[in-house]
Amino acid sequence: EKGGYDHFMMKEMMEQPKAMNDAITGRCSGNSVSFSGLHLDSEMMKHINRIQIVACGTAYHAGMVGKYYFEKFARVSVEIEAASEYRYKNPIVDKNTLLIVISQSGETADTLAAIRLAKDKGAWVLAVTNVVGSSIAREAQDVIYTNAGPEIAVASTKAYVTQVGCMLLLASYLGQLNGKLGKNDAARLCHGLSITSGLIETVLDNQDKIKKFADANHEIYDLFYLGRGLDYCTCLEGSLKLKEISYIHSEAYAAGELKHGPIALIDEGTIVVAVCTQEHVFEKMLSNIKEVKARGAYVLAIVQQAHEEIASEVDEVWTIPNMDDDITPIPTVVYLQLLAYYLAVARDCDVDKPKNLAKSVTVE
Ligand code: M6R
Repeated sequence: EKGGYDHFMMKEMMEQPKAMNDAITGRCSGNSVSFSGLHLDSEMMKHINRIQIVACGTAYHAGMVGKYYFEKFARVSVEIEAASEYRYKNPIVDKNTLLIVISQSGETADTLAAIRLAKDKGAWVLAVTNVVGSSIAREAQDVIYTNAGPEIAVASTKAYVTQVGCMLLLASYLGQLNGKLGKNDAARLCHGLSITSGLIETVLDNQDKIKKFADANHEIYDLFYLGRGLDYCTCLEGSLKLKEISYIHSEAYAAGELKHGPIALIDEGTIVVAVCTQEHVFEKMLSNIKEVKARGAYVLAIVQQAHEEIASEVDEVWTIPNMDDDITPIPTVVYLQLLAYYLAVARDCDVDKPKNLAKSVTVE
């Protein structure tokens, strides 16, 4: 049942290229995106003046990437909130609100409560979920399935990359509906999505060096992830993955926030994973790397191949192929998933069933 792998998590990480293809197939052709059966159309979009994204855990991180995409490609401002916060704060919602919820299982109690609350106030609810016929799929007015296939491991992996893929598809779709997405951008994004599965494969092919790094460092007691923009979202997700399966304390910071406090925690030998895949903030990341290096940090940088020269500034470099900056979150997170996995294995943790965690949080 684990397909010859030691853990479901590994099986599911290896299934990511196929899952990505299944998430995109039939939804992106040439330079236009379509979702069969979706009610949300340009007429409805005219009335939407507020978009909110609500989710929990990993799905929340996919929502953060979504916010970035929606604002960039559809030029609409988006609020994002953890479902457990949203449901208890009397959110501003009316019939001109589009609520987008994201949930792998479709059964998360807080997310479901958020849907009910927003629907009562007249919002239109669109769910992005993996499980057909789940409670969330049934209660939302529109559903986009991520098509990742069953996810068994508690740590969400293939569901996340497909959620991010669906966020990019949805951002393109909204941009099409409101006329804010140009033809060139649309074609560029469709092309980018169509090659993500191959890009994920190139990261999956690098497991030897990730395992080697994990075996050499499994006794660490904390780890920092730094990134800007889309890379910051990837850092949050990597940090959650590490916490939940390896029990190593970690922090993910928007790199510019570092000197507002957390840099005090960087010491001789502290491991810092610097995710630097975004060209427009690459130089800013370099400065942050220099700051932590000056305090003795061991820096592992993740960059696009074109920036391999960063090797002279850091202790170790992992590369992704050169690609459109907007699709880097998909292959990059796979490095962080594998890092969490191999650290957990090296520490003899029960990877598929971490202590005190359930696959789906159906009660508060
Ligand atoms: O099924 P959902 O996507 O609604 O679940 C949300 C979170 O409970 C979930 O993503 C959790 O954070 C994962 N264990 C993370 O790997």
